[in-house]
Amino acid sequence: MSEPSQFQAPVGTHDVLAPESAQWEGLVATFAHYAHLYGFSLVITPVFEDVGVFHRGIGEQSDVARKEMYVFKDRGERLYALRPEGTAPVVRAFVQHQPTTPFKAWYFTPAFRYERPQAGRYRQHHQLGVEVLGTGDPAVDVEVITLAQRFYEALGLTRFRLLINSMGHLECRGAYVELLRSHLEAHAEELCDEHQKTWRTNPLRVLDCKNAACVAVTAKGPMLIDHLCEDCRTHFSAVREGLSRLGVANELNPRLVRGFDYYTRTTFEFVSDALEGAQNAIGGGGRYDGLVEQLGGKPTSGIGFGSGVERLLIAREAEGITTPLLARQLDVFVVDTTHEDVATLLLDRLRAAGLASDRAYDQRSMKAQMKVADKSGARLALLVGPQELAAGEVTIRDLRSADFGQTQQRVSQEDVVSTIVQLLRMK
Ligand code: HAM
Repeated sequence: MSEPSQFQAPVGTHDVLAPESAQWEGLVATFAHYAHLYGFSLVITPVFEDVGVFHRGIGEQSDVARKEMYVFKDRGERLYALRPEGTAPVVRAFVQHQPTTPFKAWYFTPAFRYERPQAGRYRQHHQLGVEVLGTGDPAVDVEVITLAQRFYEALGLTRFRLLINSMGHLECRGAYVELLRSHLEAHAEELCDEHQKTWRTNPLRVLDCKNAACVAVTAKGPMLIDHLCEDCRTHFSAVREGLSRLGVANELNPRLVRGFDYYTRTTFEFVSDALEGAQNAIGGGGRYDGLVEQLGGKPTSGIGFGSGVERLLIAREAEGITTPLLARQLDVFVVDTTHEDVATLLLDRLRAAGLASDRAYDQRSMKAQMKVADKSGARLALLVGPQELAAGEVTIRDLRSADFGQTQQRVSQEDVVSTIVQLLRMK
């Protein structure tokens, strides 16, 4: 164990401090706004769940469940997992509380996966997402995907693409998986090392493999999109047409299978062309029409998506977008050298008037306090020294201008708040 003074955030995790944290605030606020525009309400569920929620939800054989989940026993010997994703917990809550449908929920949550950390891939990342339960209407697929698209546009992103596929429903996919398995069996020795071992238990994953050998084998094999049943095909066409009608460009990608077992029918991913290949997904999701039943509820359709906060911020940076998502700026900094604590009273009045205000502490010298004021980024300083105190006044100084003679004025304590409001309005 390291010395306490050497403690650092765990490998693959990050602290987020100002000013970066303002970007996070802005991102979450923008998402909350869009979620509200589309009729979603916030849902909050525990960050850990019975491990069964995920084993049954995302599939015990999925890579995430087998290799990446943080599983632990609590002191009461219950087996829990830190959530590796946000969908299964929302569905568990839906089954538990049986809200009226359609149930439209949005969330902002940390997610935990024991991955090999690299740029854009973390052991704790954060997702913004939505889920809709209780309707299989293709109109809702269109709505959910369009929400993601409009949200990304609002962030200023332009270099991203929507990839879309259909996983079919359980029956047509089951029949296809058998076809794929026969094809893989005939070419098993040509696959990459990992898939030579796993193609039989998880054949769909081979479609997603980036290894050239696997790509060559699957390119010659059957694709699910060509083996959908009539209903699934019609549903998929309705989704794609609906998107096109709204001007949401979408590319069919028959290899898009996604990592969790719960997906059925529409699946999609938004990829950023400004990001590195392996970490270029800024969001992904799809339908999961069997998941509610899987978690003990009545048959209920569902669809949603999740988007990585870190990836979205990296994508903005990679696109060279510099407009802040939220400008967090102090209006006023109070410099008080009276030793009477006039600052406390002034600040209370400023804040009551809605002005973001701060001060220096510890009764330091005027020079030291002015240094802090300059660093604070505030637009105005309020100076109260013994002279001002005696006259019942304060000095207002513009911190953005070097010419203090021009930009400094004395006003009575009584008028200070209204004068500041006026000055800020003029700037
Ligand atoms: P996912 O594709 O595994 O889907 O994750 C969603 C998004 O989270 C990804 O597109 C990516 O932006 C981000 N992400 C995933 N893993 C990491 C990581 N290790 N580090 C940084 N960012 C990451 C889901 O989790 C599904 N629950 C989405 C969904 C909702 N499907 C239906 N409803």
